[in-house]
Amino acid sequence: MTHTLIYPVHANHTADGHLEVDGCDVVELAHTYGTPLFIYEEKTIRDQCRRFKDAFAACANDYEIIYASKALPIIAVFQLVEEEGLSLDVASGGEYHTALVAGFPTERIFYHGNNKTRWELEYALDNGVGTIVVDSMDEMDLLETLLAAAGRRQRVLLRVTPGIEAHTHDFIQTGQIDSKFGFGLAGGLARDAIERAMASPWLDLWGLHAHIGSQIFELGAFRSEISVLADLLKETREAFGFECRWLNAGGGLGIKYTADDTPATIQAYAEVKCRGLREEMARVDLPVPRILVEPGRSIVAKAGITAYTVGTVKKLPGIRTYVSVDGGMSDNIRPMLYEAEYEVMIANKVDHEPDTVVRVVGKHCESSDVLVKEARLVSPEPGDILVTPVTGAYCFAMASNYNGSCRPAVVMVNNGKARVVVERESLDDLVARQRPLRSES
Ligand code: LLP
Repeated sequence: MTHTLIYPVHANHTADGHLEVDGCDVVELAHTYGTPLFIYEEKTIRDQCRRFKDAFAACANDYEIIYASKALPIIAVFQLVEEEGLSLDVASGGEYHTALVAGFPTERIFYHGNNKTRWELEYALDNGVGTIVVDSMDEMDLLETLLAAAGRRQRVLLRVTPGIEAHTHDFIQTGQIDSKFGFGLAGGLARDAIERAMASPWLDLWGLHAHIGSQIFELGAFRSEISVLADLLKETREAFGFECRWLNAGGGLGIKYTADDTPATIQAYAEVKCRGLREEMARVDLPVPRILVEPGRSIVAKAGITAYTVGTVKKLPGIRTYVSVDGGMSDNIRPMLYEAEYEVMIANKVDHEPDTVVRVVGKHCESSDVLVKEARLVSPEPGDILVTPVTGAYCFAMASNYNGSCRPAVVMVNNGKARVVVERESLDDLVARQRPLRSES
């Protein structure tokens, strides 16, 4: 391939100049299953799981890797990560339900969220959730009420907001003091929550959780997070004899979307977290707890690409050329929401050098529906199959029906074989739950 693009991981090109992912011709997949289409490499998801496990095995005695399911909460992926020995983080009753349908062992599920509703907690408790990550005093009250009624105890972690500002987009920072998530350190909220949970007859407090944000490149922020948590552990050990068995340090490892991105490796990330934990625990003179991490994006992002069909190529003389595809903000809201950048290529012309700079836009009724502002493409024409790599995380997960769009199908490829793991929504699906005011028959 003449492109300098790095993704997809198992990319190749066919004799007739088509992009191939793990032995499957992307143009054929697009024609067979329709577009927009999410295509995932099974191998890459498995490889990422193994990289995390290997990296932590190399630097921690006791660790647990938890897939943050929000990045791609689908049954097939839950089954893959389960086979790879990962645990699962869910953030809603819906994700919990998907995990149950996937047959995920509930003991290995961590349930997060800053406003878990009563039914969601009941649903998780009734279905054997392993660990609940408690986010507020109100939640603690509700959980205790439910547990008292059921007459049983539940393992919990408490989510702490460590006051660390990670360098990432504001919308995906979560660890800063002014945050809706968790118990802050200011005013002793986290300390009070620990005291309260320890005193509860219904809660088994196994440790703490913190997550400072997502798409983080600077590993120093993770080290600071652990340092702050270590101080809290010291304080609460001295004050109430709190013993932390599990320290869940969240997700957040950044990934490479474009050639300009320079994320850390999984090994470096593991090293910073594990060495940080050992050193910080030595500093405060406490035993090293199990370290838990919750990668989402870094498990699935580079495994996935999106294929679109080009519909129109509009040249505005002296201004620019707009290339419109048959999807857009309904299957990838990230450019509009976080100014996320993507690379792009034409799957049926991968053995030619790009010769045109264009703007790739979606088909939605909004000027903000821009997928790639400045794309270098090979003479784009209607009918071309255009591909944005690295769309595996938070694209399908955040897809919508805007403008009556049917959410795309998801296909998983492996050694030249493709399987549909999510069917494309149909026009009937779009109206299936709507109830007319009057019958037209
Ligand atoms: N754990 C918790 C508690 C989280 O809230 C998240 C992400 C993760 C783990 C996984 O973080 P990751 O490894 O994926 O960075 N929609 C945004 C990302 C929002 C992330 C929300 N929480 C995006 O498209 O960039």
